[in-house]
Amino acid sequence: MAYNDYQHFLQVLEEKNELKRIQHPVSPYLEITEISDRFIKQNGPALLFENVEGHHHRLGTINPKSAVMGHPSIHPDAIPEGGKKYPYPVAMNAMGSRKRMSLALSCSDFEEHAERLNHLLKPDMPTGPLDAILKLPGLLGELKNVPPKRVKTGICQERVYRGDEVNLLDLPVLTCWPEDGGPFITLPLVFTHNPATGKRNVGMYRVQIHDKNTCGMHWQIHKTGMEHMRTAEEKDSKIEVAVVLGGDPVYNFCAISPLPPEIDEMLFAGFLRKQRVELVKCKTVDVEVPADAEIVLEGYIDPAERQLEGPFGDHTGYYSLASDFPVFHVTCVTTREKPVYPATIVGVPPMEDGWMGKAVERIFMPMIQLTVPEIVDMNLPIESCFHNIAFVSIKKRFPGHAYKVMNAIWGLGQLAFTKMVYIFDADCDVQNIDEVLFRIGANCDPGRDVLMSRGPVDQLDHASHWESFGGKIGFDCTHKLPGELGFNRDYPKLIKMSEDVKRKVDSIWDQL
Ligand SMILES: Cc1cc2nc3c(=O)[nH]c(=O)nc-3n(C[C@H](O)[C@H](O)[C@H](O)COP(=O)(O)O)c2cc1C
Repeated sequence: MAYNDYQHFLQVLEEKNELKRIQHPVSPYLEITEISDRFIKQNGPALLFENVEGHHHRLGTINPKSAVMGHPSIHPDAIPEGGKKYPYPVAMNAMGSRKRMSLALSCSDFEEHAERLNHLLKPDMPTGPLDAILKLPGLLGELKNVPPKRVKTGICQERVYRGDEVNLLDLPVLTCWPEDGGPFITLPLVFTHNPATGKRNVGMYRVQIHDKNTCGMHWQIHKTGMEHMRTAEEKDSKIEVAVVLGGDPVYNFCAISPLPPEIDEMLFAGFLRKQRVELVKCKTVDVEVPADAEIVLEGYIDPAERQLEGPFGDHTGYYSLASDFPVFHVTCVTTREKPVYPATIVGVPPMEDGWMGKAVERIFMPMIQLTVPEIVDMNLPIESCFHNIAFVSIKKRFPGHAYKVMNAIWGLGQLAFTKMVYIFDADCDVQNIDEVLFRIGANCDPGRDVLMSRGPVDQLDHASHWESFGGKIGFDCTHKLPGELGFNRDYPKLIKMSEDVKRKVDSIWDQL
């Protein structure tokens, strides 16, 4: 079942006892982070903060001199008065468990979407006319809700604030961590169009509030929004942007999904929610946005302009350093009558983004297996912040097979950011860390089974030798084939009990 809008999703969470309302007054300056972090670390529910107080925004990173020294300054003019109460409740941790992430994707477990995608990529094609009657409708049914449709009006435009009426400081934007450069919008869906082809992209790139109508746009150098801006720059033009908050929560998932750049996230959203996404045209820019959104910021970015952005307590568990990023000028804000402000925090794992990433890992397995079919399973552990470590099991068929797969991973979309890849045999359950550690220790000769390489790494990676470019290491933890890499002894067998004895013990287990 698709959601009518974000508040409908929150209502369903509440009905399922998955949401807690907090009426106690709290500040979006660090306090909401501390409370939400404690809940997420205890596997707690989603939170709706209904009484969010005014706070001292620290609009920082404005003085380039001090920021270059690593000390973002506080701009004295940019501190609004405290004591103000925000009219908008703040929703947190809404996707912060396997169950809630699955509910956000309108299913009981997100593996269901992996199966649907697998079916779509490798359809059971009809072999005759009768078979066609039985099989084709299922496939067509999957596809009929996919394309988005344009509608004339949407709740996201019930209120319209243009020009001087725009004041981003009216939003309860969180300052997440003590050393953050300012308040950051943390669940933004950034809509742009490729200026050359017109194709839409939706990415989740954090947005730092610089002042009442300008923000920092943190699209990193490898991302599609950045590519759209570079294309605009080649045409000597600005790029129009809409930043959307809320709507069916499936949009959040689509925005973070590593889809190929030419695949429309709104098309993917239609497939996942089994209902076409309704889009309305923005008021001041030529961009369409989901009609069911809570809040929309419309505006433009001039590719020639940069301003210091950050620091920001990041997915890595560390602060990403302040750096120059494009500036988003907001020309208009539209909202529904009574919007909720959806947000998240990132930091030392486990965090809500861990579940968003897990859903990506599971749902994109069929696409990865289409390109690298020998892959049986993959685990990007939440604890190692996804891009850092991958455990991969393969159906090993030939000498050097593990190396083929390492290199494939280092060349595959955003998986290319992976720093450490461990390859295991098909019978290793890579979701079980005990088994993974056992296999690494037992099967890897560090003098022989290691491949060092180089390639792009996440722009957030602070350990890499260069920015966005660094070292990679692969470990072949598979059983070695005769003669593989000069291995000239017999490879021993893994200890396993015989099936007949297991069956026998099963049958007497209750008596035992
Ligand atoms: C909560 C959250 C915040 C994110 N913030 C950023 C960000 O600030 N900049 C960025 O480039 N990617 C960020 N990402 C990752 C991108 O959304 C992700 O790489 C996505 O696939 C990019 O889409 P694209 O391929 O259309 O560019 C974030 C992801 C999550 C879950």
